[in-house]
Amino acid sequence: MQKESNISRAFTWLEPGPVILVTTNNGKRNNVCTISWHMVMDFSPHIAITTGNWNQSFDTILHTRECVLCIPGLDLLDDVLYAGMHSGTKIDKFARLHLTALQGNFVKAPLIEECLACIECKLESHIETYGILIFKGLQLWENKSRKENRTAHAVGDGSFISDGHIITKYRKNMRTKIPDGCTRF
Ligand SMILES: Cc1cc2nc3c(=O)[nH]c(=O)nc-3n(C[C@H](O)[C@H](O)[C@H](O)COP(=O)(O)O)c2cc1C
Repeated sequence: MQKESNISRAFTWLEPGPVILVTTNNGKRNNVCTISWHMVMDFSPHIAITTGNWNQSFDTILHTRECVLCIPGLDLLDDVLYAGMHSGTKIDKFARLHLTALQGNFVKAPLIEECLACIECKLESHIETYGILIFKGLQLWENKSRKENRTAHAVGDGSFISDGHIITKYRKNMRTKIPDGCTRF
């Protein structure tokens, strides 16, 4: 079940660089696409993704100025591939993949119940030359009931790396660099 969480730790879901699902709603229906080019820009958080008009999602985001960045577990890798290899122009990917769309607090784009976390975002800036969209994260949701908590990381050549061992022993060394309440594990 997706539950509201503190936005201050939203960046911890993206900083490790997992492949993500980006949801949109164009006023007629929901859509979802796969994005692996993303970057956390600060703690607030501002988040950049790189995309372009070859994706329906890009046009919808420019039009609606919002989206949800969803972090799937490794168990959703087949869906990640499908969402990234098919355009939503003709296919209802939510229906096809049996993904459960949930309403968030700030945007019409849906959360995905089956994901580990979802970040509701508003578009703040578009750097046209590079296809960079910069979002402000408004609300973090986390689903702590998933059995598979590892994320997948796209290499870019069609192969993926799954999370391995999590090392937490350096947390105290980094405390002065990190705002309070940002612990993920
Ligand atoms: C693993 C993976 C990663 C991808 N990462 C990106 C990305 O970072 N930026 C991008 O524009 N497209 C990326 N894509 C391609 C889009 O997800 C793809 O064009 C998708 O069909 C767009 O769907 P839409 O037209 O419904 O928006 C990726 C695809 C895969 C399979």
